[in-house]
Order: sequence, then C-alpha cells, then structure tokens
Amino acid sequence: MPTTLLAQVDSSVGGKTAIDSRHGKNLLGAFHQPILVVADTALLDTLPVREFRAGYAELVKYGLLGDAGFFAWLEANWREIFEGGAARDHAIAVSCRAKAAIVARDERETGDRALLNLGHTFGHALEAACGFSDRLLHGEAVAIGMALAFEFSATRQGLLPKAEAARVVRHLATVGLPTKIKDILGTAPTLDRLMDLIGQDKKIRRGQLTFILARGIGSAFVETGVDTAEVRGFLSERLAER
Ligand SMILES: NC(=O)c1ccc[n+]([C@@H]2O[C@H](COP(=O)([O-])OP(=O)(O)OC[C@H]3O[C@@H](n4cnc5c(N)ncnc54)[C@H](O)[C@@H]3O)[C@@H](O)[C@H]2O)c1
Ligand SMILES: [Zn+2]
Repeated sequence: MPTTLLAQVDSSVGGKTAIDSRHGKNLLGAFHQPILVVADTALLDTLPVREFRAGYAELVKYGLLGDAGFFAWLEANWREIFEGGAARDHAIAVSCRAKAAIVARDERETGDRALLNLGHTFGHALEAACGFSDRLLHGEAVAIGMALAFEFSATRQGLLPKAEAARVVRHLATVGLPTKIKDILGTAPTLDRLMDLIGQDKKIRRGQLTFILARGIGSAFVETGVDTAEVRGFLSERLAER
C-alpha cells in the first residue's frame, strides 16, 4: 500500500523489491510482482508538500520519456494536481499505466525498462553526494537529473533545440523543484566526486557511459556510447555556475 505520491506512481509498480545495504542503495533484492497494489490517493492529503513535489518529479518523467501530450497536460494542470481531486487521480492513473506498459515489455530490465532511469544517472550521483539525506530527496535529485539530461542532450549532443530543454527546466522550476546543481544547499560536490559516483552507478565501458538522452519532450532513448569526457566537460560547466 503505497502512501507517498512517489510510491504510488513509481516504486509500487514493476516488482522491484530491492532494499538498501551498507554498500549502497537498492542493492539487495529481487524482481517479484505483488498480487495486488492498493493506492489510496486520499492518503496523499496528509503528505508534506515537499514530499508531494518530489513525487511529482517522477510523474513529469513519464511525460518526458514517452508522452509529450501528458507533459503539456501537466504544464496546464499542475496546480489542480497539487490541490488533489480528479486531476491528481488522473495523473496517478496515467503514470501507473505508463510504467506498467514499459515493465510489461521488459520486466527484467534488459532493454526498454532503462528508459525509466531518465534523470537517474545524474540524480543518483547527486543523491549519493548528499549522503541520501534530507538535503536532497530522491525526487528532487531526479528533477535536477532530468534537467541536466535534457540540457546535455541539447547543448552537447545537438539532439533537440535548446528552447525545448529550457521548457522542461521551466516547468520543473515552476512547481518549485530544484533544476540546477547550485539549487542544492551547502557545499557542492567536486567534479571528481561526481564523475566517480556516475562511474559507480553506470559501469564505464571503454570510456563510454550509458545515459537516457532525449530527442525532444516525449522522445527519450537509451544511449550506450556517451563519451565520459563530454559528461565531464558538461558537469564542469554546470558546477562553475555557482
Ligand atoms: N523500487 C523502485 O522502483 C523505486 C522507484 C522510485 C523510488 N524508489 C525509492 O523510494 C524511496 C523514497 O520513498 P518515498 O518517496 O515513498 O518516501 P518515504 O517512504 O521515505 O516517505 C517520505 C516521508 O513521508 C512520510 N509519509 C509517507 N506517507 C505519508 C502520508 N500519506 N502522509 C503523511 N506523511 C507520509 C514518511 O513518514 C516519510 O517521512 C527513495 O529512497 C527511492 O530511491 C524506489
Ligand atoms: Zn526514481
């Protein structure tokens, strides 16, 4: 019975059951599907707004990775979603269907399921650098990670117009989510530390990394040949923004 927005739209769907260990997050587990998931959306009425906003980042993810129409609907209706009621229920239902469809195609994550990691490679590195603490919630890290993935796709890979990446960043910022490394309070992680964490999250093969990139809003894809030096250069610029 998921009680957070994040759990209702993401972790309760798909049968990943990993728990954290001394060596890191989500490391010990199995793929095991539940018999039933009860997502009572009325529970969300008491969820602190910061937690709700963090879950909203995963909701935006479904629009960004495969459904431009849903993203546009979120841009127009986010206030109603935060207020609760029919718009909130609709957004949750759309997200569950989107995730279930991807998982049904690829339960064990050998292909398409990796799309769900949009924003998570940069995000996990930032989350780890903050010690998985209240300084940066998972959803907040994902928001920054998705902004970075779209900016990287636009500025370093020339896959989409910069204005489209800016539209993604604008919506995340409008709802109050962080979108830049400098939005994280306290001392920023160093470039070496971030690259190290990215290397741990995604094994570097011959100087190349796997990232979820985008050709536009709603058109994410798995890119296995991202040059480590490009990522380093990009992050170095982002860290200099502070
Ligand atoms: N397995 C997956 O596929 C998957 C996907 C996404 C995220 N995750 C993981 O899930 C974790 C985050 O879980 P979460 O966002 O569900 O948060 P959480 O379980 O940590 O809860 C967040 C806070 O909200 C409180 N809370 C929960 N429900 C409430 C309610 N209805 N009313 C009032 N307060 C409530 C909790 O007590 C807690 O303080 C992250 O560590 C993330 O990595 C896993
Ligand atoms: Zn996530």
